[in-house]
Amino acid sequence: MAKYRIAWLPGDGIGIDVLEAAKIVLDKINLDAEYIHGDIGWEFWCKEGDAFPERTVKLLKNVDAALFGAITSKPVKAAQAELAPELQSKNLVYRSPIVRMRQMFDLYNCLRPCKAYPGNPLNFKEGINLVVFRENTEDLYSGVEFNPVPRELADLLTKISKPFAPFASLPLDQYAVSCKINTKSGSERIIRAAFDFARKFHRKKVTVVHKANVVRATDGLFFEAAKEVAGQYPEIKMDDANIDAMTMWLLKNPFQYDVLVAPNLYGDIISDLCAQMVGGLGFGCSGNIGIKLAVFEPTHGSAPKYAGQYKVNPIATILAVKMMLDWLGETTRGSRLEDAVAAVIKEGSVRTYDMGGNASTLDMAKAIADKF
Ligand code: NAI
Ligand code: MG
Repeated sequence: MAKYRIAWLPGDGIGIDVLEAAKIVLDKINLDAEYIHGDIGWEFWCKEGDAFPERTVKLLKNVDAALFGAITSKPVKAAQAELAPELQSKNLVYRSPIVRMRQMFDLYNCLRPCKAYPGNPLNFKEGINLVVFRENTEDLYSGVEFNPVPRELADLLTKISKPFAPFASLPLDQYAVSCKINTKSGSERIIRAAFDFARKFHRKKVTVVHKANVVRATDGLFFEAAKEVAGQYPEIKMDDANIDAMTMWLLKNPFQYDVLVAPNLYGDIISDLCAQMVGGLGFGCSGNIGIKLAVFEPTHGSAPKYAGQYKVNPIATILAVKMMLDWLGETTRGSRLEDAVAAVIKEGSVRTYDMGGNASTLDMAKAIADKF
């Protein structure tokens, strides 16, 4: 029996291209692992009315880690229109598998390292090395949303928000409500993850990103939790910034930041910003980390216009493999893989289209595998 069981979830679109590239690298690394394919993605929504079928949920309950490519998502009505005819009358509602996966397996830590590898022509500035911890299960992504708004909720909201309720006089179908729900324990554990990381890797500072001056209840709770947790890590500096100012400061001087931690939505925003500073979607890797399971993925989507062309950059996915190796405790292999990626970037003779070259997805993977 292999040492590790890894769920292999290509999804659709370029998810298939980049996971094929990841396999080239993993074969070279010679990890003692069994890779078990799981069905997920658009095709299964259309055929079965579920983009994340129960059999795949079951598979994830029984693996050490998962590597996920990307999946196509569409708005509810557009999704319904593409269902197989026999499913049309069933009132099925499309829900993003990755969001479901994060909640179902409590993958509370969305970890996104953003490092500018020397010589990458897409670097915003050389030397950037940021790590973003994004809370991954609550906040505005709690899924508690109303459109149209139920009468009871409308009455309650009108009662408690008077006299500042511009919506109070509107018909119920003329506004919508999405709930931002943040718990103390949920905030504490992501903040602790950021500080533990800083401690382990000798990082100097953790910056807490919020908007507590306006969103007082939820972001206030997050910020208070951060101050409490920070007290247990006296050797690490903590500071904080409002999400809006943060985007500006990050662009102005990324070197004044180190480790960033934020509630779900702000974390989503700053991790895309940070990813763009180190090369964009072809370089953005992430881990969705829980207690028992972790799912690693490139942050990009399924890029349908490039699907099956083996044109896109697999580095994001290969760096996700590196994260997976570290998580499994295979840190020597993880470091060697990162060195191989860095060497290929520095040499610059193999580059995919986004880097200004014409190497294919698989050429890039082979070049990296050759350096391992
Ligand atoms: P996308 O990330 O799929 O692609 C946007 C553009 O970025 C592409 O057209 C391409 O020019 C570039 N790009 C993406 N990945 C690249 C790579 N590895 N190398 C080089 N260039 C790359 O975002 P888009 O077009 O907004 O969404 C397409 C579909 O993907 C949608 O259905 C969306 O819902 C879904 N999506 C899925 C995600 C996931 O599976 N985790 C995340 C984001 C979007
Ligand atoms: Mg995003």
